[in-house]
Amino acid sequence: MGRERELAALQEQFRRLGSPDHPERAVLIEGVAGVGKSRLLQEFRYFCQLNGGGFFLSNCRPAGAGAGPGEPLSEVLRQALAGAGVDLGESGSDLVSLCAAAARYAGSELPDVRGRLDPAQLTLHLADTMLRFLEASGRDRPFVVAFDDVQWADGPTAEMLGYLARNALGGPFLVCLAYRREEVKGTASQALIDEFATEPAVRVPLESLTSTAVSTMVNSMLGQVEFPAEFLDRFTEDTGGNPFFAIELLRLHAQEGTLYRGAGGWQVNESAAQEPVRVPASVRELVERRVRALPRDALGVLEALAVLARRAHPELVADMLSASADAVA
Ligand SMILES: Nc1ncnc2c1ncn2[C@@H]1O[C@H](COP(=O)(O)OP(=O)(O)OP(=O)(O)O)[C@@H](O)[C@H]1O
Ligand SMILES: [Mg+2]
Repeated sequence: MGRERELAALQEQFRRLGSPDHPERAVLIEGVAGVGKSRLLQEFRYFCQLNGGGFFLSNCRPAGAGAGPGEPLSEVLRQALAGAGVDLGESGSDLVSLCAAAARYAGSELPDVRGRLDPAQLTLHLADTMLRFLEASGRDRPFVVAFDDVQWADGPTAEMLGYLARNALGGPFLVCLAYRREEVKGTASQALIDEFATEPAVRVPLESLTSTAVSTMVNSMLGQVEFPAEFLDRFTEDTGGNPFFAIELLRLHAQEGTLYRGAGGWQVNESAAQEPVRVPASVRELVERRVRALPRDALGVLEALAVLARRAHPELVADMLSASADAVA
């Protein structure tokens, strides 16, 4: 909903895979928390799969979430090997073992690299093995290798992603990276993202949804409703067109009776709708969890939450972050 242009840009990249006039090396989907990056990837996934392609997707996780270095690559490689019909049988599921299987598929052997190369060399060696495998396995059908939440990529993952994207040119597969733009600074992915600012890459920035798209979203969640235009305008303004906040605020309105189910379907309680939105602890927690990794300085907080803050700001932002209004103002 409301992402037709962005989806069309991705579809176009998929259609042009493998053609000589395909200069782009990677697709970068960027936007703030909750704006719809993962959802767009999901839509793109359906498109690729329905059109005879493969789609291998992995999420990077924040440090401390238990993922080892290079885990996102292992995950995608595991899926790609399965997609190519490679039976992993007894072989290990770590990146080196997966790369050994990938090398065999591509007609070579991965030398015993463990302990013989320094970590940086090993990373490149494995990335190159993976590249050759992806090129070989894409001969039968084009595919996308997508990495979500790249702002959390660990060092080796960022290195390998760079290698793959740099060398994917003209190949049968597309590297697709999604990330929170404002959280990339100072992370292992910064160099990677900066590099593709000047390399040929397709950027798909996700902006706030328009009020029409937000209305469509509300309609699809509640059934066809005829809400007053003022309510929908205010709802869009309160959520800043951020779909994550829109879903949460809709839930909140339903819980608190601002929206209620009348005889003819959902209706607005006009007087409740005039009240400023108070965000209860449960929603605050959800939002906080979502934006926890954001820089905690006032600017980062405001940027992230400006989406909700247009009308009730700064009290609403303060309320959501359990901070004083003065601190966020
Ligand atoms: N265009 C849309 N129409 C309807 N719902 C949407 C749309 N975009 C996103 N959503 C919904 O909004 C919520 C947040 O979207 P999503 O998880 O894709 O955000 P994100 O950009 O990946 O956020 P994060 O950076 O936190 O991972 C999800 O429940 C998703 O299904
Ligand atoms: Mg996401």
